[in-house]
Amino acid sequence: MTALKATAIANSNIALVKYWGKRDERLLLPANSSISVTLDDLYTTTTVEFGGKRRADRIQLDGRELLGEERTRVVRHLDLVRKLAGIKGKARVESKNNFPTAAGLASSASGFCALSLAASAAAGMGLDARNLSILSRLGSGSASRSVYGGFVEWVKGHQRDGSDSCAVQLADETHWKDFRLVTTIVTSTKKKISSRAGMRETVKTSPLYKTWLETIDPDLKAIRKGIRQRNLTQVGEIAEVNCLKMHATMMTTTPRVLYWQPATMEVIRSVVDWRASGERCWFTIDGGPNVKVLCRAKDARRLARKLEGLKGVKKAIVCKPGQGARLSFKHLF
Ligand code: PMV
Repeated sequence: MTALKATAIANSNIALVKYWGKRDERLLLPANSSISVTLDDLYTTTTVEFGGKRRADRIQLDGRELLGEERTRVVRHLDLVRKLAGIKGKARVESKNNFPTAAGLASSASGFCALSLAASAAAGMGLDARNLSILSRLGSGSASRSVYGGFVEWVKGHQRDGSDSCAVQLADETHWKDFRLVTTIVTSTKKKISSRAGMRETVKTSPLYKTWLETIDPDLKAIRKGIRQRNLTQVGEIAEVNCLKMHATMMTTTPRVLYWQPATMEVIRSVVDWRASGERCWFTIDGGPNVKVLCRAKDARRLARKLEGLKGVKKAIVCKPGQGARLSFKHLF
């Protein structure tokens, strides 16, 4: 078989109304819909080549050979693409993040979206955005949202086969020019509990989980309106409380799912205090210790410097709403 090669770039996304918990573990169907913003400065580039004389898939991330569970997840996704495309060749995959992997900067979102686009294109599939979102979802739930730029909703869907559980774009990356998200990095080490395992335990054991689900629809409605009207106070308030509700379900899980570090609390405290003294800033936190701060364009650099001055904060990166996943001619090998 002749080698078939493609390269894709997918940006990371940060949820403003979070996805936490599945209704179907195998098809990665979420218990609730979620809304995110795709970020311009955090992305994954992935090249996939099928065919040649390879006897096994060879997968590298940031120059390191993937092993164990990480490798199995990627191979399983490649198997799915091979099955859908009706091809057999083994793959060489090289992937590069421009940010620390698995530190709560949503590397699985950009990673599985870039892998899905590169692999499906290399296999000659030419998927439309909806089907690319569904394929990405099957690698990692949050990856379904990175297909689109700007503000994106992953609609949970109702079908048992997951055919209606995919992302839709609410507004593109040019809609809200004044929106910024400052990502702080408090640690770049890999988290101990994966989102997948954490969610599973939360759904099973947190006494707050049912209440979390009951509050999702009003949050989605309010965030959609806030995005439409470019109302930072509304979007910030809802995103901050939604994130605290999600972390409350994690903290009340058995065994505990505790992602926060002392520096996480330091940033939370500071954002709340700064806001009380007139700053326009709100925080959100995914499944990890790093805090993201929502703010206006004109305040972003100053806030980033203030955040970098806090104990335990290594770096603060200013991001704008970014574009959706796309193919590139610059192959990594
Ligand atoms: O799909 P995963 O495994 O990347 O899980 C994402 C979970 C959160 O980041 C905490 C929330 C979200 O909606 O992105």
